[in-house]
Amino acid sequence: MTPNGKGLAVVTGASRGIGAAIARQLFEEDHAVLAIARHFETGALPDGVRKLSLDLDRPDSPAGIAAEVARLEMPISVLVNNAAIQRPVDLTQPFDAQRRADIEAELRLNLLVPIALTNALLDRMQRPGGTIAMVTSLVALHPKPSAPVYSASKAGLASFTASLRQQMRPLGLRVMELVPPVVETGMTEGRGGNKMRPEALALAVAEGLAAGREVVAPGLSRKVRLLNRAAPGVVAQVLARH
Ligand SMILES: NC(=O)c1ccc[n+]([C@@H]2O[C@H](COP(=O)([O-])OP(=O)(O)OC[C@H]3O[C@@H](n4cnc5c(N)ncnc54)[C@H](OP(=O)(O)O)[C@@H]3O)[C@@H](O)[C@H]2O)c1
Repeated sequence: MTPNGKGLAVVTGASRGIGAAIARQLFEEDHAVLAIARHFETGALPDGVRKLSLDLDRPDSPAGIAAEVARLEMPISVLVNNAAIQRPVDLTQPFDAQRRADIEAELRLNLLVPIALTNALLDRMQRPGGTIAMVTSLVALHPKPSAPVYSASKAGLASFTASLRQQMRPLGLRVMELVPPVVETGMTEGRGGNKMRPEALALAVAEGLAAGREVVAPGLSRKVRLLNRAAPGVVAQVLARH
């Protein structure tokens, strides 16, 4: 535990974008923070944040992270499974070996890694009261046609999150689904305006953690999810254009 009893926040994909903003926010709120990514640029995170540089696509990465957490001797108060990639996939073209390898890597990072890492860190979660957060997307509701593998991975992750929530409840662990709207990060570079700042999303995450929310869907995400209940066809058409 940190002196104020906050415990350790483990955030994957925390070198930039949404993950870095969440890591900064939780560090500001006196969590100890373990940030995970392949490359960290100087100055992206405060000095006190612990940085673990590793490729989550390596099969031994969950065990490596569990070993680092054991070394820190602190219970995990928050695990944020955030790292993901999004690639365009043209399904009209035959897959060569490289394309198939890319698709497998996208599915591994976006879907299998959060599942495996959650399992590897389960014994280290603070009980009761720890939170496992999964970062999904509005494309879990309706796919983005140009990113079918990404969309399928996020729909799969949203489904997994719902099962996980049920299985974790008897252990006293919360499971939060974070559904960002379009956020200004490298992933959305070149896309139209009206993007949320990563810092605003991180603040919503912190508020959701404090309130014990099961779903955090700030800004446009909340409106889209509400509209989707009444008019899913309209939402599908709108999302297909983004
Ligand atoms: N941006 C949006 O509008 C939006 C909307 C909905 C959902 N999301 C979701 O939000 C999450 C964060 O997205 P973002 O926009 O912040 O993405 P981003 O800016 O592209 O950042 C992705 C992060 O993942 C890390 N990463 C990628 N491959 C990795 C690997 N093999 N091993 C370890 N780390 C790896 C990257 O660090 P390194 O390259 O240094 O490894 C980076 O820190 C994702 O789950 C995304 O699907 C984003």
